Amino acid sequence: MKIGKVLVTADEIAAKLDEMGKAITNDYRGKDLLMVGILKGAFVVMADLSRRVDLPLEFDFMAVSSYGASTKTSGVVRILKDLDEEIEGRDVLIVEDIIDSGLTLNYLMKNLLVRKPASLEVAALLIKDGVDRRPLDVKYVGFHIPREFVIGYGLDYAGKYRNLPYVAVLGDED
Ligand code: IMP
Ligand code: MG
Repeated sequence: MKIGKVLVTADEIAAKLDEMGKAITNDYRGKDLLMVGILKGAFVVMADLSRRVDLPLEFDFMAVSSYGASTKTSGVVRILKDLDEEIEGRDVLIVEDIIDSGLTLNYLMKNLLVRKPASLEVAALLIKDGVDRRPLDVKYVGFHIPREFVIGYGLDYAGKYRNLPYVAVLGDED
C-alpha cells in the first residue's frame, strides 16, 4: 500500500485543534473535565488537543476494537481496556480520531451513560460525510471528509501509518 492524496495538512490540523481547544476551554471552565481517549487511534489527537485546553483536566483511556486488519467495519465492538477512573458525576469528553459508521461511538456512549457522568460529550478530529448512520451528537468536530479510508495522525491501516503528521487517503497497491 502507498500513501495517497493528502486530505488534511499538518498546519490545517494545528489550526483546527487551536479552535477546538479554545472552545473546550470556554465550555469546561469550573467543571471537572475528564478527557477519555479511545485507543489506539485517538492518542495523537488527545495529546495535541489536550495541550490546547487551558484547564486542570485529567486523562483516561479506553481501548475498543471494531475493525480487524480490514478497511470495513465488522459491526462488532469489543472493550479491550476499560477506564481506570469512576466517571459518576464527572464531565466526560470522549476524544475520537474519526467517526465512520458511528457504531463505536454509539456503543461507547451507551456504555458510559450507564455510569452516570455529569455530562458526556464527544470531540472528533474527523467525521466521514455521506454515511448512512444513526444521528450522533458530536459537539466538537474538526473536519468533514469524504467516505474514503484515511491514514495518519493516529489513524492506521493494519497497524501502520499512525505517525504521519497529516491525514491522507490510503493509496493503491503498488
Ligand atoms: P466506526 O465505528 O465505523 O465509526 O469506526 C470508528 C473507528 O474505526 C475509528 O475510531 C477508527 O479507529 C476506525 N476507522 C474508521 N474509519 C477509518 C479510516 O478511514 N481509517 C482508519 N481507521 C478508521
Ligand atoms: Mg483503528
